[in-house]
Amino acid sequence: MQIFLDTANIEEIRQGVDWGLVDGVTTNPSLMGKEKVKDFPAVVRSILKITPGPVSIEVVAEDHEGMMKQAEKIASLGDNAVVKIPMTLEGLKTIKKLRERKIPVNCTLIFSPIQALFAAKSGASYVSPFVGRLDDIGEDGMYLIEQIKTIFTNYDISTKILVASIRNPIHVVRSALIGADVVTMPFEVLKKLPQHPKTDEGLLKFMDDWKKIFPDGGFPL
Ligand code: E4P
Repeated sequence: MQIFLDTANIEEIRQGVDWGLVDGVTTNPSLMGKEKVKDFPAVVRSILKITPGPVSIEVVAEDHEGMMKQAEKIASLGDNAVVKIPMTLEGLKTIKKLRERKIPVNCTLIFSPIQALFAAKSGASYVSPFVGRLDDIGEDGMYLIEQIKTIFTNYDISTKILVASIRNPIHVVRSALIGADVVTMPFEVLKKLPQHPKTDEGLLKFMDDWKKIFPDGGFPL
């Protein structure tokens, strides 16, 4: 399962890449707003450069012609650029045309299994079901991932399931158990994943025991 960071913060991406944990990045207009991005092309170019894999950049036009123009600009910025297109009828039309031009698309704002199926049929390389936002309204976001996985397996669909709107490590574990292709998460969730209180407790005990033999903490080899 690939791990993407859901952020437009360059420093977070740099750290995640240094840890060897980040395979790609997803952004959206709200994340750009959170970073108060002014020089949009410069920020996008930096993210594309430091990220080892795909980077999703979202269009903001809502009509087909506008989406096409913005998509082509995004795609021209780097080989690892993926165009994020919202799940609308105009979006589906755009995904089909971009597929013909071999421009990879991540279809975003997916909240039902049929939306995922239609995005895949139109030619999206990724579908992004938003699990956290479904949990927020009292639904089980991860059940949607199970449904999409079953449908894609039934019809041998190669579109990747990119689990989005992740809020906690349980979302990540369940995604891996279901067999999702990618999870995208905020930096805060990524940092929590390798941590466990028993690991911290165990390490503390090892260090204390070592200092009983070598009080200066040395390693005399
Ligand atoms: C996905 O690509 C979106 O950017 C993101 O996961 C949305 O998450 P949110 O519901 O936390 O805003």
